[in-house]
Amino acid sequence: MHRLKLVPNTHAYYDFIRMLRNDPRVQHGFIQQTQITPEEQHAYMEKYGDCYYVCLCDDQPAGYVGVIDHDIRVATHPDYQKKGVGKFMVQEIMKIFPDAYAKIKVENEASFKLFMKAGFKVKYYILEKE
Ligand SMILES: CC(C)(COP(=O)(O)OP(=O)(O)OC[C@H]1O[C@@H](n2cnc3c(N)ncnc32)[C@H](O)[C@@H]1OP(=O)(O)O)[C@@H](O)C(=O)NCCC(=O)NCCS
Repeated sequence: MHRLKLVPNTHAYYDFIRMLRNDPRVQHGFIQQTQITPEEQHAYMEKYGDCYYVCLCDDQPAGYVGVIDHDIRVATHPDYQKKGVGKFMVQEIMKIFPDAYAKIKVENEASFKLFMKAGFKVKYYILEKE
């Protein structure tokens, strides 16, 4: 059994979060497609860094979760996916931000399953013109 711990984000994790967010194996799940430079990440984290937490699996960074304006963003490093890390992060972050919600792409089955497993229910649909 792996030991999971959610810790507040610090400078030391800025690049872990950036690399994971940029990773094509993870990126497809997000609504915004982007490649973040170290400089952009630094500026972003100076503003929003306190909104992020990192999940350590046996003391190694395995994923991150953040809540900005109640909106959850979460990613698990591919090496650690499907081991319960995502569910752990969502459950822990809900203790800190109980009013948070998730906005996910219709085709993002992994994310949908994750939030359903974490006890979320579909409350709204967002419809956009094609
Ligand atoms: C979504 C994501 C965070 C899930 O992380 P994870 O650590 O693999 O999730 P968990 O291991 O806690 O799995 C939670 C549930 O979702 C299911 N699940 C996870 N990945 C899945 C996949 N690719 N396909 C189908 N189901 C999946 C698991 O089977 C599990 O259900 P179970 O308890 O019945 O086994 C991860 O796939 C990821 O980082 N995706 C890319 C980024 C992304 O899409 N983020 C969400 C945008 S807000």
